[in-house]
Amino acid sequence: MGSTLDIVLAALLGYACGSIPFGLLLTRMAGLGDVRKIGSGNIGATNVLRAGNKGLAAATLVLDLVKGFVPVALAASFFVAPAEMPEAALGPAPVAAIFAVLGHCFPIWLGFRGGKGVATNAGVSFGLAWPLGLAYAVVWLAILAVTRFSSLAGMSAVCAAAIVAAVLGYVAFVPALVLIAALVLWLHRDNIGRLMAGSEPKVGSGK
Ligand code: G3P
Repeated sequence: MGSTLDIVLAALLGYACGSIPFGLLLTRMAGLGDVRKIGSGNIGATNVLRAGNKGLAAATLVLDLVKGFVPVALAASFFVAPAEMPEAALGPAPVAAIFAVLGHCFPIWLGFRGGKGVATNAGVSFGLAWPLGLAYAVVWLAILAVTRFSSLAGMSAVCAAAIVAAVLGYVAFVPALVLIAALVLWLHRDNIGRLMAGSEPKVGSGK
């Protein structure tokens, strides 16, 4: 477990990185306007794709992933000795993980209205432990390939990371990943309603 200062710094670092709204910045720089005014209003890669630019959507996906990975990896390396990590359920790395996703979902710069956390939590999972990131990526891509529902793929991956962490013995990371999963599912409540009603748009449908 890190010191209180380590944990506060990890939280600030996580939030500072997570709250960078890459989807909005990239679409604005490309002259595509405000991504929050199209589609679902989300600032994530799925909605950037609806703005009509696959390259920008891919860049948003990668940058949103990186902004989750970096603070968690830094928190794990700088704020606490790696040997202590297995004991650190509330240590710097899991705290940075939670705050990176909170930063993406509730960015202070956008009046606390951001994205849904799926790509950022992919980076977070890789930062916590690569097998968790791998499980996340496999589930995400597999469900997306089979169903073409971005929301269903993302929600499945977020849950998979928490479950795989418990199964593989990454006990220290389970509380953070369960908390993040609960938040991400809640943020997808409209998507869940549309999935159940059969009206959720598929990736590539242009809707
Ligand atoms: O990662 C966001 C995705 O799961 C859903 O996005 O824009 O279809 O609500 P959206």
